Amino acid sequence: MDKLKITGGRALEGEVRVSGAKNAALPILCAALLTAKPLTVTNVPRLRDVSTMAKLLGEMGVAVERSEGRVVLHAPTIKDPTASYELVKTMRASVLVLGPLLARCGEAKVSLPGGCAIGARPVDQHVKGLEAMGATIAVEHGYMHASAKRLRGARIVMDLVTVTGTENLMMAAALAEGETLLENAAREPEVVDLARCLIAMGAKIEGAGSDRIRIQGVRSLGGAAHRVMPDRIETGTYLAATAAAGGKVRLTGAAPDSLDATLDKLREAGAKVSTTEDTIEIEMTGRPGAVSVRTAPYPGFATDMQAQFMALATVARGTALITETIFENRFMHALEMQRLGAEIRLEGNTAVVNGVERLQGATVMATDLRASAGLVIAGLVADGETVVDRIYHLDRGYEALE
Ligand code: EPZ
Repeated sequence: MDKLKITGGRALEGEVRVSGAKNAALPILCAALLTAKPLTVTNVPRLRDVSTMAKLLGEMGVAVERSEGRVVLHAPTIKDPTASYELVKTMRASVLVLGPLLARCGEAKVSLPGGCAIGARPVDQHVKGLEAMGATIAVEHGYMHASAKRLRGARIVMDLVTVTGTENLMMAAALAEGETLLENAAREPEVVDLARCLIAMGAKIEGAGSDRIRIQGVRSLGGAAHRVMPDRIETGTYLAATAAAGGKVRLTGAAPDSLDATLDKLREAGAKVSTTEDTIEIEMTGRPGAVSVRTAPYPGFATDMQAQFMALATVARGTALITETIFENRFMHALEMQRLGAEIRLEGNTAVVNGVERLQGATVMATDLRASAGLVIAGLVADGETVVDRIYHLDRGYEALE
């Protein structure tokens, strides 16, 4: 399906079960490269990115068995430690195979990801960390050729907070000789979920969830069974949609603990939000109040929620400032929202959004996954019909948003 048609103006009501987290599942699937024993992963979302990762791992010789939310991966040997441009260009998270391949096979050939719709997204921190652990990495014909006899532990101070960078280095360090200390590590819950899986496989990791992760390398890892954490961005998307369109929605199988910044902002907008350990209920009556957000690494406000909150701001009472600090080009949706009648002025990395009472339906174009989600929410608060073109981006991160 290429286009999604939305008739706006209806309040949302109902109950939704949240899926497993895409951004936790992807690195966890890669962890199968670290062991000759089977890794069973459950609560795996049915998404295109998961299929792409399964295909990528399959090409390396990993046996992948998938059934309803459960994936069993088994890599007694790695036949070819290569990640081709064809797959890496469609999904940047493919770079997550670099650390595990190098640690397990002593070599890896991984395509450089290049740019994408939301910005340049370099991988220099992944490279810097692996080099500190003794790897030699050369770029030839668009590929990183990495080799190392056996990686050795090192103290690595990352120049900036990177989620997949932290995950790549944590996986590599799990099989390195001696101790690795990752400083300025990402604190995202997905990093913690990966650490939990690695620990279940026999890795020695302390401090995941803080900015300092200590990994004591072991000779080999075993098999394990791991349940992927709930998707906090999918959860946040449904919550933002309800706050914008009004109504009452209950989310089950969620992880409210991972959503503090988002829940605070929704309450600030006037939503009634209540939580239990694994459910969230949101109720919104009337027009939302304007809330400003500034994206930041976890536990700050997630860049993956920025487009959805911009949609909320377009119909809010008052003016909101939406500041993006993580990716330099993550405002493509702002120009599309303007086509729906939103009053948005871009000033560098800040969008100044003057809320209007209602948007008007039109055809808009999705440019990336979260931009698509933002445009769908905008469509829900637009009069008449909105068509979101290139909606296939949505299938990368939402099982069935519609
Ligand atoms: C992860 O991407 C997520 N993807 C992204 O989700 C998310 O937007 C992002 O983290 C930030 O939270 C996965 O987990 C698979 P980063 P990642 O490395 O790891 C710069 C979604 O919609 N940087 O934390 O690639 C980089 O350019 C996706 O689900 C370097 O300069 O992001 C960016 O400005 C999109 N050098 C900042 O760091 C590096 O070596 C943070 O990026 C690495 C990153």
